[in-house]
Amino acid sequence: MTDPNPTPATELDVDHVRAQFPAIATTDGPEPWIHLENAGGSHLPRHVIDLTTSYLSHHRVQPNAPAGPARTAGDLMERGLAAAAATFDADRTGRTDRDGDVGDVHIGPSTSQNTYVLAQAIAATLRPGDGIVVTNQDHEANIGAWRRLADRGATIRQWSVDSDRGLLDPADLEALVDDRTRVICVTHASNLAATINPIAEVAEVAGAVGAMLVVDGVSWAPHAAIDVADLGCDVYLYSTYKTYGPHQGLMWTRAGLADELTNQGHWFNARRSLARLTPAGPDHASVAAIAGMVDYYDELFRHHFGSTEPAKLRRWQRIARVYDLVATHEERLMTPLLDFLTGRGVRIVGSTSTSRAERAPTIAFDPGPVGGAAVVEALAGAGIGVGHGHFYARRLVDAIGITDPEGIVRISAVHYNTVDEIERTIEALDRVL
Ligand SMILES: Cc1ncc(COP(=O)(O)O)c(C=O)c1O
Repeated sequence: MTDPNPTPATELDVDHVRAQFPAIATTDGPEPWIHLENAGGSHLPRHVIDLTTSYLSHHRVQPNAPAGPARTAGDLMERGLAAAAATFDADRTGRTDRDGDVGDVHIGPSTSQNTYVLAQAIAATLRPGDGIVVTNQDHEANIGAWRRLADRGATIRQWSVDSDRGLLDPADLEALVDDRTRVICVTHASNLAATINPIAEVAEVAGAVGAMLVVDGVSWAPHAAIDVADLGCDVYLYSTYKTYGPHQGLMWTRAGLADELTNQGHWFNARRSLARLTPAGPDHASVAAIAGMVDYYDELFRHHFGSTEPAKLRRWQRIARVYDLVATHEERLMTPLLDFLTGRGVRIVGSTSTSRAERAPTIAFDPGPVGGAAVVEALAGAGIGVGHGHFYARRLVDAIGITDPEGIVRISAVHYNTVDEIERTIEALDRVL
């Protein structure tokens, strides 16, 4: 275990961060591979890997027997569930662990599957003409499942981006809602435009007409502590394989919501709120391994604040302290990259602001005549992993008029990336663009 710092940290210790990730530690050689496709999936810290290995090695039995490995398996899964809830600062009525960190968090195999199940749970309660608002900025995961409800009588209305930067204007939303609007679906920050949408403002619009607000936080959760109470949404989803955890989707629902919707689980589990929106049995090892994600955050908290903040903070507060440091570091990463690209006249999707208060360090741009494949290939040749295409946000790419099938290029950093890596990426881009 690392000694805590003697004074409050003001900067993220990136070397310490990187030491937690075997994938980085083992490729940090003379020719390191720079992972800048984090919006597609992040590396795993050793905490998650160790928990997965240990669960699969010793506890892969039907959990929750009174003793033995099955008892431990159940305990490990409970720990994972509580950790998942802690990341939302959620309170689960009647079910609290020692830290008081539990809540209505449903664990499914992916966010796409969670929105699909949620849409089915709402479908049976729709009356003909009930409205559903979707955007054309979202990943298809928070659009397609909702659009399909047109077959069940819903009226689908689209909150559209501007055709230049692909941004949503909250002023356009009010005209799309009325007292028949049942659901509003929007991304916290698009996986391409990366610009933070004003969720609290949208929640007010939703609240005024009694609509349910479903927020896709998949692209934002790797960069910030998620405060669902502050956001005022009804549902918040993210995928842990992008937040340094196992391949799962987490769906927080406001207290009582799961019981109001149609049960999607087995009939005999209908009284168990957490079984109603997760029809399949979960991957037990992955549920347990979610605890490793929060152990990792705690590792960073201890390292940076361990000796200066001994007072008992809730787990979410510890996570939030860590993400404050992450924010400053991520701003440092995206600033030179955005400055370089805008300086070269490259068209950026979303805001060109370099402020982390406005956007995530995911930078998608139109590569122009060079083409996405050539840029990705050139960067790969320099040991840098990025991607090109539509990234399942096909409607957004179409809306901003990108017609080249090679699509746009996306460079997505997280807190374990370094300024040096970004500088090398800029050098490689300078050669190819
Ligand atoms: C913004 C966003 N939402 C939803 C998803 C879908 O997540 P999942 O792969 O867990 O279904 C993704 C995946 O890339 C995403 O980037």
